[in-house]
Amino acid sequence: MPCNCCEMENNTFGEEEAKANLKEYRRRGPAKQTRLILEAVRSLGLNHATLLDVGGGIGTIHHELMKDIASEAIHVDASSAYLKIAMDEAKRLGHSEVKFIHADFTDVADDLPQVDVVTLDRVVCCYPNFRELLKAASLKSRTAIVLTYPRETWYLKMGFAIANFFQKLKKDPFRIFIHPIEEMELLLNGEGLRRVSTRRLFVWEMSLYQRS
Ligand SMILES: C[S@@+](CC[C@H](N)C(=O)[O-])C[C@H]1O[C@@H](n2cnc3c(N)ncnc32)[C@H](O)[C@@H]1O
Repeated sequence: MPCNCCEMENNTFGEEEAKANLKEYRRRGPAKQTRLILEAVRSLGLNHATLLDVGGGIGTIHHELMKDIASEAIHVDASSAYLKIAMDEAKRLGHSEVKFIHADFTDVADDLPQVDVVTLDRVVCCYPNFRELLKAASLKSRTAIVLTYPRETWYLKMGFAIANFFQKLKKDPFRIFIHPIEEMELLLNGEGLRRVSTRRLFVWEMSLYQRS
């Protein structure tokens, strides 16, 4: 399906990277920041939960949660390479109740059903319009939204600026973003979601927002 950001994401998140991510996941399990998301979702005490994973990459979140608390999942990703790897792995694990959609989530959100939990693991930092992305994600969430995003630290601001400078030199349009955490929170509060927990790593911060 053609979309605004798919071509860019296909170039950035291609087959090589997807294969390497899967290898790493099979060897070591979920990455540290993904484990924080998994813990947060499990802390909600849901059974037979429905999930929507936006920008789910190789599908780690649903591969893990379909083993215990989830019964259905939707995985929307702008990268076709990541989506294919996620699909093959879900098939291997016997998770037939996962639906895969290749699209920019903001283009297809209106057509998707509401679910219990929406997750965005390291996704807002790949998308320039965080307001559109988070608003669409929050409208799909009945119970909670869990996300990871880069912390607003001086060392990350410097690192991201350097990385974006090299992207510009390479004439690659893909950019990474440190979006203002307070503004993301205000937006989610405006959609009826309250932050109930936050955990921090060196780069990533994870927040769980629950519908009040
Ligand atoms: C850094 S990767 C993270 C993948 C995975 N969540 C993880 O943490 O391993 C960002 C992912 O978000 C996807 N993505 C970014 N913006 C998106 C959008 N607007 N709609 C759908 N997918 C998006 C990219 O294609 C990519 O797979």
